Amino acid sequence: MQTQVFDLRDTKRPQKEVDDQIEAAARILREGGLVGIPTETVYGLAANGLDPDAVRKIYVAKGRPSDNPMILTVSGAQWLTRYCVDVPPIAYELARRFWPGPLTLILKRNPIVPDVTTGGLDTVAMRCPNHPVTLAIIREAGIPVAAPSANTSGRPSCTTAQDVLEDMNGKIEGVVDGGPCSVGVESTILDLTVNPPRLLRPGGLPLEDLEAVVGLIEVDHAVTKPLKEGEQPKAPGMKYRHYAPEAPVTVVTGAPARSAQEIVHRMTPTSGVICFEEFEELFAGHEVHVLGKTGDKVTQAQRVFDALRTFDESSVTEIFAQCPDNRGLGLAINNRLKKAAGFHVIDADDSSVVLGITGGTGAGKTSALHAIEMLGGTVFDCDAIYHEMLKSDENLKNAIIGVFGNIFDEDGTLNRKKLGEMVFSNKDRLDQLNEIIYRFVRPEILRRLEGGDGRLYAIDAISLIEGGLDQFCDCTVAVTSPMELRVRRVMARDNIEEQYARLRISAQKSDDYFREKCDCELENAAETVETFEKEALRFFTKLIDRIKEEKQHAGKE
Ligand code: TXA
Ligand code: MG
Repeated sequence: MQTQVFDLRDTKRPQKEVDDQIEAAARILREGGLVGIPTETVYGLAANGLDPDAVRKIYVAKGRPSDNPMILTVSGAQWLTRYCVDVPPIAYELARRFWPGPLTLILKRNPIVPDVTTGGLDTVAMRCPNHPVTLAIIREAGIPVAAPSANTSGRPSCTTAQDVLEDMNGKIEGVVDGGPCSVGVESTILDLTVNPPRLLRPGGLPLEDLEAVVGLIEVDHAVTKPLKEGEQPKAPGMKYRHYAPEAPVTVVTGAPARSAQEIVHRMTPTSGVICFEEFEELFAGHEVHVLGKTGDKVTQAQRVFDALRTFDESSVTEIFAQCPDNRGLGLAINNRLKKAAGFHVIDADDSSVVLGITGGTGAGKTSALHAIEMLGGTVFDCDAIYHEMLKSDENLKNAIIGVFGNIFDEDGTLNRKKLGEMVFSNKDRLDQLNEIIYRFVRPEILRRLEGGDGRLYAIDAISLIEGGLDQFCDCTVAVTSPMELRVRRVMARDNIEEQYARLRISAQKSDDYFREKCDCELENAAETVETFEKEALRFFTKLIDRIKEEKQHAGKE
């Protein structure tokens, strides 16, 4: 079969030419043939919805399972009384507001609609698309058309006439090229035969817009979760593997900077990536399809299917995809990406764990941090960061000079002795210094956390709590140890007399203080460093596991 292309991208051409093309496409439909048609959402594959033989051809051309019903596409709400029964007033109200547009309503079916069209259901899906060319064709044909998305069953939907030809060339009579689809994801499907109305498929019309008119809407759980084995979804089409490219897809949710980092961490040289525009350069050298800017869901919806489809022409072995949040059009984009991934989803926010580690001298903080490094964690040593910043951060320097006078030497380095003399015997002065230090260290730590690889971090600070760093932590850990052991350790480590060791320890906050302020305690009663490190490894492994578990739980609710 030769597939004829009707070029109707430019409707400002001579009216006669346009009319001829519309008439030709309408004739194919009236005579029982198949035509690919543009809509604002995705391209449809149309046949006369009242002609069972014509509708059967759609199932064959798409390779679509025959229990998956079609949407009946009409040119206006006046057709509802003809093909549906018991139409509730809210249906007309929704049609008045949103038709023509990306909303499909499930209503009770009038038996004049054939079984093949509705897959034998006693309901029928009604839609009026917002595309002038297709509306003109339907009006001209004088029939409602059964029109599922024009893709081969299981493949991502088509958003250009070229996509349709790719899947349907030679299998159908015609394709009408009406330009690229402006919405890019299919219509929102709302079932009005149940109370409260139920969202069966998120789409081009945001759920929030529907709720503003309808009130409470129940979201079918097939929208956000994979079906259990043997479970029948309310929209039969939701049970099939959908929108999927050939390479397996993994969706990475979470704050965009984190999901990007998580993908960088996981990808191999043959991975393909679907990402937000801001992060494109992170994936240089890989096959990348950009969805759009993080905040621009309109563009993301337009591009999502194209991104998924295009990977089929490449040799990538797996695809990682960033994903917007669920608000507005985000719900539909989320749903399409997750269905393409068979709901294989990783939450980048889940996988990062930030621990705060604090405790007095000689308790074993260093060994505890070493254990975290052995687990692949990154340690932020606040004292070291402060001294690093002193060298480069003029604002920090000036803040110190503002309070303590110029205590920097000629070459710009801090005179620690001078500063020490001012603060160590004066608690208020010490508090003042700490206030300045942490005012500058806090944003620096945050910057490093956000720019990091998104996995495991430990913030090491003696003033973790007073410095306000605990706010970044999933859990704060006090490292404590019996006094006599600490004294011995400090003596050996710093090569000092017992008396000085005791003095040094008692100048700091007590174990009881740390115990009280922190979420949990790691006690070091071990005789050797090796023994304690082993204990710390076990302790942190369990703790991290528990935190991840809790986060996953929180994410599900
Ligand atoms: O935007 C759209 O809706 C596009 C364009 C071409 O109009 N069409 C489209 O059709 O997405 P299709 O067939 O790919 O998806 C229709 C979905 C399927 O999941 C189908 O199972 C469901 O609607 N559906 C159709 N009739 C139904 C009914 N009576 N009850 C519940 N679900 C129904
Ligand atoms: Mg479809």
